[in-house]
Amino acid sequence: MKKIKVLTVFGTRPEAIKMAPLVKELEKNSDFFESIVCVTAQHREMLDSVLNLFEIKPDFDLNIMKANQNLWSITSDVLLKMKEVYEQVNPDIVLVHGDTTTSMAAGLSAFYAKIPVGHVEAGLRTFDKYNPFPEEINRVVVDSLCEYHFAPTETSMQNLKNAQIPLKHAYKTGNTVIDALLYIVKNKEADISKLNLDETKKTVLVTAHRRENFGEPIKNICRAIIKLVEENKDIQVIYPVHPNPNIKNTVYEMLQNRERIILTEPQDYAPFSTLMKKSYLIMTDSGGVQEEAPSLAKPVLVLRRTTERPEAVEYGTVKLVGTETEDIFKAANLLLNNEEEYKKMSDAINPYGDGTASKQIIEILKTVKKADD
Ligand code: UD1
Ligand code: UDP
Repeated sequence: MKKIKVLTVFGTRPEAIKMAPLVKELEKNSDFFESIVCVTAQHREMLDSVLNLFEIKPDFDLNIMKANQNLWSITSDVLLKMKEVYEQVNPDIVLVHGDTTTSMAAGLSAFYAKIPVGHVEAGLRTFDKYNPFPEEINRVVVDSLCEYHFAPTETSMQNLKNAQIPLKHAYKTGNTVIDALLYIVKNKEADISKLNLDETKKTVLVTAHRRENFGEPIKNICRAIIKLVEENKDIQVIYPVHPNPNIKNTVYEMLQNRERIILTEPQDYAPFSTLMKKSYLIMTDSGGVQEEAPSLAKPVLVLRRTTERPEAVEYGTVKLVGTETEDIFKAANLLLNNEEEYKKMSDAINPYGDGTASKQIIEILKTVKKADD
């Protein structure tokens, strides 16, 4: 039997975390699949840390990251370099993830080569072109050109149905981020003692990196953090800072050397998962963290105006608070000081899957890819 040649392409930390369970599942099914992994390395250190954790050795590494890179250079580098990889590998199917520029450009490059594309985490939408930017349009592009759509939830499935794009193979599978999280929580408890957290204080975990938050919004977020620690002596804030200079420079200028504010390098995924478990409250503009925290029963305040992940908002464990200092402060201060409000938001829920998404995707690929040939 001829094996199905699957080329998995990813480039940033969140894509690596969410594609790792799929790569592992492809390896387990080596009777059916020849699995080839290409990383664009749109991220470098943050990508390598995930590759090490999941013990993935890429077959191709395009090594494109430049300091303070821009959307044009990432797009053109990936578009052109993937052409060469596709010519060399000639895959039966290319798998890309979500909404990064790596995914969009690798998908487009495959489309130009007339290679079928599978989109993992398909169908997410805010319907707001510049929020998040450029991710909203990246995912529209990938959903429009791919043959296989793997939607994580009913809402994302419905978005695809409403999108007026050909949907030959569209499936609701759950999100592979839950597969990754459950695996790590079960198998890789990390030692976070070097972070010197004060066990007597409530921990507020913060992350932020989005392009639309560069400038005034990230300053507002920092101002809210300062006010929160000043007015709540029983809390500490831990903030693993994204290396993007547009974020890092501002955050360090405004928050370093302040009492009960701990700024760190980005954490590897295992210690970060431990940090999420240990925290009392999470404030973030991240997509992935919005999906993970509800299953750990942690309330999340989202530092954005829109979200493409409405499910946990509907359940009540995630709240959109925007990026105005006073709005962030008030929402966090309430949760820190009102137990009833806190309890309302800290139920463990899991709208994003049961940890079997990657298995489901692989089973679907086995069946439909054969039927298509
Ligand atoms: C990218 C994605 C975003 C995703 C985010 C996850 C795009 C356009 N953006 O945004 O959708 O949510 O990743 O984190 O695809 N850097 C390092 N080392 C690293 C990674 C980044 O130094 O390991 C620095 C570099 O200076 C780099 C900059 O961060 O130029 C920005 O990286 P880039 O991938 O362009 O943007 P992100 O904000 O990380
Ligand atoms: N994450 C991590 N270390 C950190 C911050 C985040 O491992 O210091 C993980 C987090 O648990 C989630 C993913 O990285 O799985 C989210 O990545 P990011 O916020 O960079 O991107 P987004 O999800 O917004 O695209």
